[in-house]
Amino acid sequence: MDFKKVVSHCKEYGFIFQSSEIYDGLAAVYDYGPYGVELKNNIKEYWWKSMTQLHENIVGIDAAIFMHPKTWKASGHVDAFNDPMVDNKDSNKRYRADVLIEEYMDKLDAKVEKEIKKAAKRFGDSFDPVMYKETNPRVKGYLDKKQEVGSRLAKAMTDSDMPELKKIIEDLEIACPVSGSRNWTDVRQFNLMFNTQLGNIAGEEGKLYLRPETAQGIFVNFLNVQKTTRQKLPFGIAQIGKAFRNEIVARQFIFRMREFEQMEMQYFIAPGTQTEWYAFWKEMRLKWHKALGTPEENLRFHDHENLAHYADAAVDIQFNFPFGFKELEGIHSRTDFDLSQHQELSGKKLQYFDPERNENYVPYVVETSIGCDRMFLAAISNSLQEETVPDAEGKESTRIVMKLHPALAPIKAAVLPLLKNKEELTSKAKEVYKKLSLHFPCQYDEKDAIGRRYRRQDAIGTPYCITIDFETLDDDTVTIRDRDSLEQKRVKIDELVSIVSKNVSMSELLESLLQ
Ligand code: GAP
Repeated sequence: MDFKKVVSHCKEYGFIFQSSEIYDGLAAVYDYGPYGVELKNNIKEYWWKSMTQLHENIVGIDAAIFMHPKTWKASGHVDAFNDPMVDNKDSNKRYRADVLIEEYMDKLDAKVEKEIKKAAKRFGDSFDPVMYKETNPRVKGYLDKKQEVGSRLAKAMTDSDMPELKKIIEDLEIACPVSGSRNWTDVRQFNLMFNTQLGNIAGEEGKLYLRPETAQGIFVNFLNVQKTTRQKLPFGIAQIGKAFRNEIVARQFIFRMREFEQMEMQYFIAPGTQTEWYAFWKEMRLKWHKALGTPEENLRFHDHENLAHYADAAVDIQFNFPFGFKELEGIHSRTDFDLSQHQELSGKKLQYFDPERNENYVPYVVETSIGCDRMFLAAISNSLQEETVPDAEGKESTRIVMKLHPALAPIKAAVLPLLKNKEELTSKAKEVYKKLSLHFPCQYDEKDAIGRRYRRQDAIGTPYCITIDFETLDDDTVTIRDRDSLEQKRVKIDELVSIVSKNVSMSELLESLLQ
């Protein structure tokens, strides 16, 4: 579905609001509304349980957002967690230099796509896009240019070469999208960490950072956890929590935020086993996404060209968002970089005695890291659909339906009395609603015609609508309507809890990960 429609649907149906909206909002900060918080909690539950319940050697922690400032020196964030920034002198707008160049490359891609579409129309069934890309001089020209720009960008980023980034922008004659001018400042490094000040210490000494990743809370607790849970390597520590980044370009709704939530797991392993565990976690994490019903063609691996300062291998799981394939999750082989750094700066040993190897060493780490908000956006984008279906009278009508996996749906069942002004129906419906609410989140709705009430529930992804009618009063049966198939069945009230529970069950979703 069109991205604008996804964004407006989130607001209209109480999933996401702009932060401090009455003051015109705060850029790249968002609040989750009543359905949003339920969906987000379900995503977190799915991730948390898949880590800590399905792996006996993975345990959780909840570390503080504030950490000793030396943490960020050790992790490399003080010196290296930067983005290259450039300002346009005419519009005073600020950009990420690498993003301006990437957007230029995206435009080349778009040109290639356009040429291919045109040619496919012209040549019909005999058209071979691969051959066309290799032989058509214009398309080849675009692709060669993209390759050349990509290599220059990758090298400049790896070398932190700011003058070269400026040179690329100048060579490509990139103009500011707002002013249209090419009047750029020099490219400078911009540190993405937010900082604040401790109450009782003045100056640099009291400088505190809001954590830009949750991972460091895990590293500094490595020995605490290992000793108290008596884990042997390999073992993992999982954490869900807020992270903060002062993003230069914060766009695309909750895709890139300044305050967001991460779900991270650090898997501590013996040195030399990282290739095996990296492959293992790549496969596990892809399975986790696919179990939600995300079509395979909307997910892909993308190897990092510029490795972060801590990694010896890194891959993204990209999702086909409404604005194209973009990073959803990262899997990083972080070597012993973080633990060694903390060991050095703290002066405390962060080593493990391996009884099989009969030696002490600093463990290696493979990390899986996914943004909860980005996962939320992926889940919504993947499930929000516009469909033509028969209405209550059998006529064709369109509906907006959110086909979320039932285990993620914010509300599991809606209880609807057929008529609002028949006390015997409404009181029976309220009775059923109360009973079901003990087991899962439900809604009672008596306002408007039944068809409109179905549509409201479709729009928030409720898997089941239960209607109480006159037959119910005679034999304690109700109709239960399935959101996706629209099938309606007559069942006993006593069967409702077990029917709905089974289909919305988190355990069943988790079980599918074991197959
Ligand atoms: N500990 C490793 C780490 O933080 P990262 O690739 O910088 O790696 C991991 O971030 C994940 O966090 C990303 O794949 C993305 O899902 C999410 N993420 C990062 N920056 C974000 C932002 N500004 N807004 C929303 N999510 C973000």
